[in-house]
Amino acid sequence: GRPPRPRIAAAIRVVPDFPKPGIMFQDITTLLLDPEAFKTLSTCSLSVTLTWTSRWSQVRIEARGFIFGPPIALAIGAKFVPLRKPKKLPGEVISENYDLEYGSDCLQMHVGAVQPGERVLIVDDLVATGGTLRAAISLLERVGAEVVECACVIELPELKGRERLDGKPLYILVESH
Ligand code: PRP
Ligand code: MG
Repeated sequence: GRPPRPRIAAAIRVVPDFPKPGIMFQDITTLLLDPEAFKTLSTCSLSVTLTWTSRWSQVRIEARGFIFGPPIALAIGAKFVPLRKPKKLPGEVISENYDLEYGSDCLQMHVGAVQPGERVLIVDDLVATGGTLRAAISLLERVGAEVVECACVIELPELKGRERLDGKPLYILVESH
C-alpha cells in the first residue's frame, strides 16, 4: 500500500530562524523520536531501494545523511562510503568545495573507496539548494563513478535544488510543509 508519508512529514519539526534569521530549519531529530514514523520511513525507503539492483555502492553525506542509510545498505548488501567534512578521514582524500543554504563547506572522500564505473546511490537527509548533493555528484564523477540516483528524506521544493543535480533522478519521501 501507499506509505503513510503525512506521518513522516508531521514528525519533522520546523524551527524558524535556525541557525540564522530567515531559515526554516527542518529538524529530523523529532522524526527519530517517533519510532513508528522512523520505521515507516525505513520501510518505504526500502521498498523503493529493493527494486534497484543490489550492485550498488552507497555514498552517504555527513552528518545527517549517516542516520538514514544503514537500513537500506544492510538490506541491499551495498558497500557504504562516507562523504565527510574536512579533516575527518585519515587516508588520502579527494575534496570538493560547495556553497550551502547558509555558508560554505567542503566534502571529502577516501581515494580508492569508489572505483571507476561503480554505480552509486547518494543518500542524505534533506535537499535545500542542492549544493551538497551537487558537490557529492561532482566528487563521485571525478573518480569515474556513475551516480544513478540521489535519495533524501525531505525536499524544500521552493529552493529548486533538484534543478542543480545535472539531471540525476532525485527520490524523496516528503516535501517541506
Ligand atoms: C544540511 C543537510 C543537507 C544539506 C542540504 O547539512 O543535512 O546535507 O544541508 O542543503 P543544500 O541542499 O542547500 O546543500 P549541513 O551541511 O548543514 O550539515 P549536517 O548534515 O552535518 O548537519
Ligand atoms: Mg547534511
